[in-house]
Amino acid sequence: MAEAIRAQLGRLEAYSTFGDLANEPATRLASLLSELAPVEDGRVFLTSGGGDSVDTAVKLARRYWRVLGQEDRKVILSRRGSYHGTHGFGTSITGLDDIREGYGPLLVDTQQVERDSAEALEATIAELGAANVAAFFVEPVTGAGGVYPPSASYMEAVGEVCRRSGVLLVVDAVICGFGRLGTWFGAERWNVSPDMIVFAKGVTSGYLPLGGVVVSWRVAEPFWTDPSVPILRHGATYAGHPVCCAAALKNIEILDRDGLIGRGRDLEAPLFDALSQLTTLSGVDEVRGGVGAMAAVEVSAELLSRNPAAPSDIAMKARDHGLLVRGLASSVCVSPPLTATDEHIELIADGLGSAFAEAEADVGLSRAV
Ligand SMILES: Cc1ncc(COP(=O)(O)O)c(C=O)c1O
Repeated sequence: MAEAIRAQLGRLEAYSTFGDLANEPATRLASLLSELAPVEDGRVFLTSGGGDSVDTAVKLARRYWRVLGQEDRKVILSRRGSYHGTHGFGTSITGLDDIREGYGPLLVDTQQVERDSAEALEATIAELGAANVAAFFVEPVTGAGGVYPPSASYMEAVGEVCRRSGVLLVVDAVICGFGRLGTWFGAERWNVSPDMIVFAKGVTSGYLPLGGVVVSWRVAEPFWTDPSVPILRHGATYAGHPVCCAAALKNIEILDRDGLIGRGRDLEAPLFDALSQLTTLSGVDEVRGGVGAMAAVEVSAELLSRNPAAPSDIAMKARDHGLLVRGLASSVCVSPPLTATDEHIELIADGLGSAFAEAEADVGLSRAV
């Protein structure tokens, strides 16, 4: 990675992708991502990260309907409990109250629907009128919202609701992509046809900031083929930065070469099984996971009532056991590297078990046998 980044810095250190200009790593990356994505004849809009990409997808969705003469299709739906970044549109559609609150009025014409119910999505679209709904954003496994995998038929069912109502289906794969769920874009795990896929994080494995949106031909076409359509005046200075794109290209080569993409799937059962052993603890209510290399341990209501800061306390204690985990509102979540081995999974379960036991002892909660 360092070599690829250094080499690109020596060739072309910076160049924007505005108007008709681009740079070679950006166009190569766009073509490669378009080939890898489960999207019909996709085009790729590059950005600087996940938040940029979510905002790009919201604007594209709204502009798309406007260009088709259906200005009323404005409402952006998303799921309760989902996270879509900290930018303006992303904050507005995020389904976590503590992320949305404290800024005054956010974007109007957004609404969140029940997390795991295609019926709720269908009812909301019916209530609003499909002719008023632009898109539905779905994070297949909600990450920052506490690792809730979708129920078995959820993704296909919402795909079908979107297809029937004409609403654009946008998959936010910022966490779920690049191997986390065992596929390139996460969405391949289900029989769905996304109209757009938002990606970031894993596209460079975090070496340099980059994100983007894979846009299906359905959405791209009017911008591409109709000269009367006004140019899409949207794009950031560092979008398609050649050095970031060179890092992404090398990263994708390594993920492919080392068989890392499938690892998310290989790790899901061992991780879930190892953590499920913690359900015997009185500080644990449930363990969620089993879809991709990510899981969450829900802190019990009893422990939370005695110590509302238990999740972050447990995350701090886990550091003493060699683990970096994340404390969320009521759970502790883990997302190990795709290179994790059985030994690492054991370390995660043991370390978290010890951290939970210490948090229970702090508040005099007896350990279950
Ligand atoms: C699902 C999802 N979407 C969007 C974002 C925002 O990405 P970024 O932090 O790169 O702006 C995140 C970040 O964690 C995310 O998890």
